[in-house]
Amino acid sequence: MMKSKGWSNNLQKVLTIYKAKRITVEMSRSEVITVDCAGGTYKKHESAYVDEGTVIGKDTSIWHFSHVMSGAKIGEKCVLGQNVNVGSKAVLGNNIKVQNNVSIYDRVIIEDDVFCGPSMVFTNVINPRSHVSRKSEYKETLVKKGASIGANATIVCGVTIGKYAFIGAGSVVTKDVPDHALFVGVPAKFHAWICACGEKLDDTLACKTCGSEYKLKEGKLYAQK
Ligand SMILES: CC(C)(COP(=O)(O)OP(=O)(O)OC[C@H]1O[C@@H](n2cnc3c(N)ncnc32)[C@H](O)[C@@H]1OP(=O)(O)O)[C@@H](O)C(=O)NCCC(=O)NCCS
Ligand SMILES: [Zn+2]
Repeated sequence: MMKSKGWSNNLQKVLTIYKAKRITVEMSRSEVITVDCAGGTYKKHESAYVDEGTVIGKDTSIWHFSHVMSGAKIGEKCVLGQNVNVGSKAVLGNNIKVQNNVSIYDRVIIEDDVFCGPSMVFTNVINPRSHVSRKSEYKETLVKKGASIGANATIVCGVTIGKYAFIGAGSVVTKDVPDHALFVGVPAKFHAWICACGEKLDDTLACKTCGSEYKLKEGKLYAQK
């Protein structure tokens, strides 16, 4: 008799814990807020701050603890991961993926379809000193359409990363990177040509994965029509 009562009490306890857990899951789902914007809505986690005076395109998602500062422009269908900061004078196109822990500073311009790997670093002052204001000397960094930047890479300001270029994980980019070039290392140097689909190209300059063909002219790679 006593045993059966103990069993029933335990079952009650389990059910109470189960219900509490279910409520927690439901609450964390409801923490995603849908916000009206031009032509539709974008989503943001309730822990993210989006300042007034930002422009954010439809179907963009902004995840936990991120901050978009007043004046920033972000296009459509972008995903900003956790702990992403977007400065007032940063400009992001459409369909950009920014992984966790990335700061996109003033005068960083990112075109459509760019991938920014986790914890990669942009810069905007070439010779910072804490006691000297350099706000009028920010250098522009341009990341062109379709480029990918690997995890933990650093982009020294003032460079242009070409269309569909690829920067290996942990590299430090100090110079312009041509279209379709794969750069790796510290400082980052040319390693191979790379297709728009992300496969390295061999000497034939024809992609074994997607069939795209390229030609080299005066040291630059062009997609064949
Ligand atoms: C660069 C990359 C695409 C691979 O290039 P790959 O040429 O196919 O790589 P391989 O494995 O054939 O390596 C070729 C050489 O380059 C070196 N290498 C590869 N990646 C490198 C990098 N990021 N930095 C420095 N050297 C690198 C390799 O050690 C190897 O050197 P070795 O010839 O002296 O042995 C890949 O290493 C990389 O960095 N990917 C990014 C991953 C990432 O950040 N993802 C983010 C989302 S989670
Ligand atoms: Zn390809």
